[in-house]
Amino acid sequence: MFQGVLFDLDGVITDTADYHYKAWKKLGEELGITIDRAFNEQLKGVSREDSLRLILAHGNQSDTHSEAEFAALAQRKNDNYVEMIQQVSPKDVFPGILALLQELKSNNIKTALASASKNGPVLLDKMAIADYFDTIVDPASLKAGKPAPDIFIAAADQLGVSVEKCIGIEDAKAGIIAIKKSGAFPIGVGLAEDLGSDIPLVSTTAELSLSFLEKLWGNKDDYHYS
Ligand code: BG6
Ligand code: MG
Repeated sequence: MFQGVLFDLDGVITDTADYHYKAWKKLGEELGITIDRAFNEQLKGVSREDSLRLILAHGNQSDTHSEAEFAALAQRKNDNYVEMIQQVSPKDVFPGILALLQELKSNNIKTALASASKNGPVLLDKMAIADYFDTIVDPASLKAGKPAPDIFIAAADQLGVSVEKCIGIEDAKAGIIAIKKSGAFPIGVGLAEDLGSDIPLVSTTAELSLSFLEKLWGNKDDYHYS
């Protein structure tokens, strides 16, 4: 059986993925760079700084901004995002997530937050679910962000369990790649066209019960991915 579950946050635990999109879109408009939902798929799971690099490259502005301007742009996006998440409350936890966290806790299965977001701890507090997490990885402590596997490896290490004995849950392509490389077993929340058809997928988090995870874990050798 699996011993740990490594959770992404934005787009898995709550709908903040949409706030990130809206905040980047607004910054893009200020810079004259169009950010649509298709391009946004590339930003999901990616750190603030790496996201800004991708956006500037998308708008052919990679060499247009000084280091100080770059930092100010990242700050402006975050200020806007932080304003958007002020109203987040326990009712914003996605369907099935609280019940899953409760089941994991009562079955002594460890849980970690493996989010690229520096706003993760604040959001867990706002949703009143911080106590369900045994550990939170500090994304600032990592050498490389998703799609590198570092965050999932660190999450398992912090839990004191082998990463091969963990399930990782993600809504982003970069996150799925990171889970695969880490050795954990991936579950995607989203569409095959975005996340691939070689891993188990759910269309809504309401499907994520402990018994469902146990069933997938039991069949995990049926999935062939690299
Ligand atoms: C990830 C999001 O969870 O966190 C990304 O999917 C975001 O969209 C990244 O850029 C970093 O978040 P933050 O809150 O530190 O800017
Ligand atoms: Mg996400």
